[in-house]
Amino acid sequence: MSEAAVEAVELRRAFGGQLAVSSLSLRVEPGEIYGLVGPDGAGKTTTLRMLAGLLDPDGGRVSILGRDPFARGGGGFREFLGYMPQQYSLYGDLTVDENLAFFREMFCLRREAFARRKERLLALTRLAPFGRRRASALSGGMYKKLALASVLLHEPKVLLLDEPTNGVDPVSRREFWDLLHGFLAEGMAIVFATPTMDEAARCHRVGLLYEGRLLEEGRPGELVRAFEQPVFRVSGERDRLEAWVEESGDALAFTPAGAELRVVVRRGREKSLLETFGSAASPAMPTFEDLFLARVRERREAERRA
Ligand SMILES: Nc1ncnc2c1ncn2[C@@H]1O[C@H](COP(=O)(O)OP(=O)(O)O)[C@@H](O)[C@H]1O
Ligand SMILES: [Mg+2]
Repeated sequence: MSEAAVEAVELRRAFGGQLAVSSLSLRVEPGEIYGLVGPDGAGKTTTLRMLAGLLDPDGGRVSILGRDPFARGGGGFREFLGYMPQQYSLYGDLTVDENLAFFREMFCLRREAFARRKERLLALTRLAPFGRRRASALSGGMYKKLALASVLLHEPKVLLLDEPTNGVDPVSRREFWDLLHGFLAEGMAIVFATPTMDEAARCHRVGLLYEGRLLEEGRPGELVRAFEQPVFRVSGERDRLEAWVEESGDALAFTPAGAELRVVVRRGREKSLLETFGSAASPAMPTFEDLFLARVRERREAERRA
């Protein structure tokens, strides 16, 4: 097998006796975007910080393009790595140009290389007309694109993004994804941490992270196709459906979807739903969110039984 861009083997990390990440293994190839998907507190940030070499694992190992970030000097992995933390802050008082110049110095970039890359990144992010605008005066989407540009100035081969589109409007989010696809096509490997299921579904592969463990991993489309629990749409009758979910114990998840409700039913228990709701219930195609909610529920139940 060729060298992975990112490899984590049996990573483990606790804070004050509380496990944040537990026996987590993953592998990301060049040109691939891997979604680390999970609710708040699942361990996404802790995982990325270990991959970035910023937080020592209690156990396990990390390799970035074959280099160990925790070896003395990091084996020179830093020049290959870009990391955009969750609370990424640029200098609000500095302009777009000044922020990028700051990163030029931080990465010790030569002027010609910097000028070339900056021009390309500003064109790609469409920030070129805003060079003199202060970062604090940028819109949410522009701010995130400037943040992305700043971590790409040194042309990393591996990019770790921690909820990079949080608070970004759908149009800017799309532009952000278009940018990422351009870099993927050039062979960059990306780990994308997110709590939102629709973004997860855009990744090549995803790992469902819950309480520090990967519950499931694979291509989003394949995971959804292989999902074995029946899903229904139920129109109206929200109170009755909630009561049914509560009393029957036959649902693994349910979520509002406009005027309807989606409900993931335990396999073999469809009859109970259909008997109660009749023609108000109709079969639906599972979504990635259905799958994730059901897996979390199954996991909780397994823990309670243990
Ligand atoms: N520096 C820290 N000190 C103590 N607990 C932490 C620290 N960082 C994370 N945790 C805990 O570890 C768990 C995972 O957190 P985190 O990795 O931030 O999850 P996520 O990014 O998925 O929201 C949470 O229970 C969180 O409270
Ligand atoms: Mg986080």
